[in-house]
Amino acid sequence: MSSHQGKELPGIQKPIDLLCEYAVNPIGIDAVRPRFSWVLRHSARARIQSAYRILVASTPENLSSDKGDIWDSKKVKSDKSVNVEYRGKSLESKTRYYWKLKWWDDDGQASAFSDAAAFEMGLLSRKDWGGVWIGGGDLFRNHIVIKAKVKRARAYVCGLGWYELRINGQKVGDHQLDPGLTDYDKVALYSTFDITDFFKNGENAVGIMLGNGRYAQDWSGTPGVKDRLKTYQSAAPKVILQLEIQFEDGSCQKLVTDETWKIARGPIVRNDIYDGEIYDARLEKSGWDNFGYDDSQWEKAGLFQPPGGQLVSQGTCPPIKKIKTTQPVIMSNPRSNVFVYDFGQNFTGWVKLTVSGPRGTEVKLRFSELLHSDGMINVIPNRTAKVTDNYILKGEGVEVYEPRFTYHGFRYVEVTGYPGTPNLNAVQGIVVHSAVNPVGGFQCSNQLINNIHKNILWTQLSNLMSIPTDCPQRNERMGWLGDAQLVVEESIFNFDMAAFYTKWLRDIRESQKEDGSISDVVPPYWQRYPADPPWGTACVVIPWNLYLYYDDERILEENYRLVKGWVDYLTSINVGHLIKFSKYGDWCPPNKFRSLDTPGELISSWCYYYDALTLSKIAGVLGKSNDAGKYAKLSQETKEAFNREFLEEDYYTYNSKVFDSLLHFDFCPEYDKKGNRKRVLYTQTPNVLPLYMEMVPEDKKAAVLQNLFENVEITNDCHLNTGILGTRYILDTLTQYGRADLAYRLVTQTTYPSWGYMIKEGATTLWERWEYMAGGGMNSHNHIMFGSVDAWFYRVLAGINLDAAAFGFRKVIIKPYVPEDLNYVSASVNTIRGLVSSSWRKEADALALDVVLPVNSEGKICIPLTGFTNPVVKENGRVIYRNNKFVPGVPGITAGTREEGFITFNAGSGDYSFRIGESSV
Ligand code: BGC
Repeated sequence: MSSHQGKELPGIQKPIDLLCEYAVNPIGIDAVRPRFSWVLRHSARARIQSAYRILVASTPENLSSDKGDIWDSKKVKSDKSVNVEYRGKSLESKTRYYWKLKWWDDDGQASAFSDAAAFEMGLLSRKDWGGVWIGGGDLFRNHIVIKAKVKRARAYVCGLGWYELRINGQKVGDHQLDPGLTDYDKVALYSTFDITDFFKNGENAVGIMLGNGRYAQDWSGTPGVKDRLKTYQSAAPKVILQLEIQFEDGSCQKLVTDETWKIARGPIVRNDIYDGEIYDARLEKSGWDNFGYDDSQWEKAGLFQPPGGQLVSQGTCPPIKKIKTTQPVIMSNPRSNVFVYDFGQNFTGWVKLTVSGPRGTEVKLRFSELLHSDGMINVIPNRTAKVTDNYILKGEGVEVYEPRFTYHGFRYVEVTGYPGTPNLNAVQGIVVHSAVNPVGGFQCSNQLINNIHKNILWTQLSNLMSIPTDCPQRNERMGWLGDAQLVVEESIFNFDMAAFYTKWLRDIRESQKEDGSISDVVPPYWQRYPADPPWGTACVVIPWNLYLYYDDERILEENYRLVKGWVDYLTSINVGHLIKFSKYGDWCPPNKFRSLDTPGELISSWCYYYDALTLSKIAGVLGKSNDAGKYAKLSQETKEAFNREFLEEDYYTYNSKVFDSLLHFDFCPEYDKKGNRKRVLYTQTPNVLPLYMEMVPEDKKAAVLQNLFENVEITNDCHLNTGILGTRYILDTLTQYGRADLAYRLVTQTTYPSWGYMIKEGATTLWERWEYMAGGGMNSHNHIMFGSVDAWFYRVLAGINLDAAAFGFRKVIIKPYVPEDLNYVSASVNTIRGLVSSSWRKEADALALDVVLPVNSEGKICIPLTGFTNPVVKENGRVIYRNNKFVPGVPGITAGTREEGFITFNAGSGDYSFRIGESSV
């Protein structure tokens, strides 16, 4: 997204940051009507796009002579600059197209054309594939003789479970643990690489290494999942590859996987996503992937059954990559020949080992998030996942080893079997995750909040592994829907998530059953059907947020059947417009897995209401008015049933009948003044959810609110007692009803339970539980499901909000909350439309607020009065508000009114510096 804050040129400027399907110059896409997005610049404020013209050409030459021989949109009157759909000639496989555009501002001024960009199609149909699936080894080799100058060459490859492609001794591309995870009976993803520069004249060698991944995973070591495992027929590692080489002379050559390939066993003796890798360097076949290697002793590759799934392009979904290297901060020696490295940060990835010693020496690396008190690593929370990499030396000088087909979630590494005493540099941490682009930034004057934000960034990235996982360390690492839906906004504020979620939503669609149910985890390697409603709601929440934040209507179209199928599934199991079915409910409240105090059916019914209401909105956006009406009515009926069932006098809890059946759970009953047994089982979540969605009857609202405020502030002494669902909504609900101060107390809390408590106890990522747990069971120290608080930092402390009037940051509301003990906040998001930022700081006698709004966006900028009674507001030193009146004249600012503790201005695009202070006159 846009980062060109460079030198300001006069007037309208050419569009920048051209994206196709959310990516820069993508290759191998299979969207036959790709969508274009761009960012605009203008030296004047308050500029809106009034029109655009896109040219798509078959050659760079045609494009530079403004000939859109593939598509010329002509001048289109529109302010749309995000996800503009291609409407030209049908696009062909493997073909590269070049495009550019120009725009007109609302004065009718035209810009110059943008710089050229490109996109390239993948293999759009099965018949484009010439090769077959081969298997039978873990090293595959073939060669190709090149006799002419290579103009352009592409590799299209899918190796299951995971592969590494090499040409002439070099690894192709920088993908790791590729392809992304899918349900291979439905979809197998292929990647496309530009290999033009890999070839030389004469003989060239092509090699492939294969690993098990999830496709050929050996589950025998994982107890208790047998009954619901998804395994793949004859799931041995296999690969299909197609190299396409075009020469300057117009001719072309192909190499595909078929019976001409040779196979052999390599140095990777064992590989497993949970248990790690055994690499025996003595079994290396040096030069196997290079020309001139003698593979005459190798066997012929076997022709293998294709996986059940369709070959689909990985497209613009960000692949998993090595993101950075990190050094250990400490090495300790808790026992003889046992060395423990502390990286000071919990993360996902592996380590690079550097060692030299006698041939056959076996170095063992084990990984953990925690240490025992004696300094030894604590692997118990990893459960049955062995998380161990073994490297057997070949005894040739300095040897360097990194695994290929496994990954770990860890802070500590234990090294044993090392020849001699290792030094601090013997191991380096390799941080690995889906390469989503960072787009957000947040910092403030409260270090605790900054640490919570930092921990959330690490936790979020640790759990983006081609799918959003629950955790990276134990024998789980599944695509749990509940965890992901709760942090969709946090992730979108921090990272470019559009293409990542687009891919995962396809996985969710593929997992949907005829009856509309979906699994708790996707891909459904664990068949957990039907999903618990707060988990299943992910198929509604995620597309809806992609629409809101990226103005992506196609994601609603593509997932309409999924969302409708899911809501209809809930309807098929409803009882009196309520959902009695509940598995996890408000998961992991303090001291528990499953909340006994928050009725599961309340949570499920609330999700039913949310899903039906959101579906009616989605139908509205897509112009499906019948459905919009039908589901709005359904949501209304559900709301009424919800209040009938769960609303007591002035708080939400169990329906009395259900309550009585639960008596045995309640260890300490309470009695009211009349001595009647008080059915006080007050918890926050059951009251937060209906308040958040405005479901509470007007006449009861004040009382329900008062109870919540009292429970948070007094009964729990400014602590929450919510599980993952209540935690997602409690801060917004308190803020929504004017108690941002109370929400702020919760986020700055440092005693148990709180995010601050985790940090005080040494956390560098978010815990699965509010408690510090170090045993087996469910005690991950790298779970993202409590990470939703970060979105509150952006939306409330920095005040960066979408305006429901026009999504995708077309309209923005900047409305920061300024706590007493906070001196400054600075946040920015590189949105699909360009940079949006909000930074405030307290000065001696004023509050300063700097705001940036991108061209083609409009904003409401709400400056908090922060105690000023007769405020004067200046923008870059010029008065825009005084004596309770707006003072016009400053470019870009069109109105100013005083409302609800704020002075609110309407402003167009531009960089603004506001200052509010007490009027001296
Ligand atoms: C997972 C969670 C998930 C939960 C649902 C746990 O095992 O780690 O992420 O949401 O199960 O029960």
